[in-house]
Amino acid sequence: MTETRKKITLPYLFKKVEDKQPITWLTCYDYPTAYLQEQAGIEMILVGDSLGMTMLGFDSTLPVKMDDMIRHAQAVRRGAPTAFVVGDMPYMTYQDSVENAIRNAGRFMSEAGCDAIKLEGGAAMANRIKGIVDAGIPAIGHLGLTPQSVSALGGFRLQGKSATLAKKILDDAKALEEAGAFCILLELVPDRLCKLITERAENCIIMSLGSGPDAHGQLLIYHDMFGLYPKFKPKMAKVYGNAGEVILNGLKGYHDEVIGGQFPEKENYFGMPDEEFEELKKMVEGGQLHR
Ligand code: KIV
Repeated sequence: MTETRKKITLPYLFKKVEDKQPITWLTCYDYPTAYLQEQAGIEMILVGDSLGMTMLGFDSTLPVKMDDMIRHAQAVRRGAPTAFVVGDMPYMTYQDSVENAIRNAGRFMSEAGCDAIKLEGGAAMANRIKGIVDAGIPAIGHLGLTPQSVSALGGFRLQGKSATLAKKILDDAKALEEAGAFCILLELVPDRLCKLITERAENCIIMSLGSGPDAHGQLLIYHDMFGLYPKFKPKMAKVYGNAGEVILNGLKGYHDEVIGGQFPEKENYFGMPDEEFEELKKMVEGGQLHR
């Protein structure tokens, strides 16, 4: 479908906002999935550090390193050449200094061909956003449930439920926008707070993950959409198909067929001409084979 799609750019995304057309965004960590997402017309792809959980099996995103992210982002870029690919800055690659933030953001751009980076945190991270944007790199903020701070936030739960906490998220969004973030992801905040932030955004695209419909677009975690993360399914995720079940059934089928001698079938392997095989046997019998 999207074979002739033009590269998704920042002006394209802002035009969609202007035209009141929602933007589509999904996580992705590998080449074949990126290829499918590109074919499906998905506009933005997040190479999220959630890969620590969904792909590497850790209990949190904290063990993920910059080199892990680069390797996956490169594969995604190869699979989705026209999507707007966002590299997610892993834990402690930007929190400690503006200099590290710029250096690591630069790696996403130069080594993986990303279009932008995303980092977590509010006003306290505004100078990291500013430094990265001043270096010529488009930056996305991430507020609400920020998985790298899950311990401080008390778990994977709704954020900004009280007026005071909601006001803090609202102020953080303004601080990130003023620092130059072209986009902010709101994860798991109440729908009315998301709507308010979207209405107040002047030059910033607001995206929702589990924060309701009144944003400029939606993000979902790919593995949650297709039953591919065995540990849990968050309420915010809609399941569009159970690929996990399809794959499991296939694996059981393979296992049973090998055990039962039904696999491989004739079309799954190759023969060799009789005369070549006769020649081979003579060579073996004559001791001509290298050992
Ligand atoms: O790493 C990730 O996939 C994310 C999402 C949870 C937004 O940051």
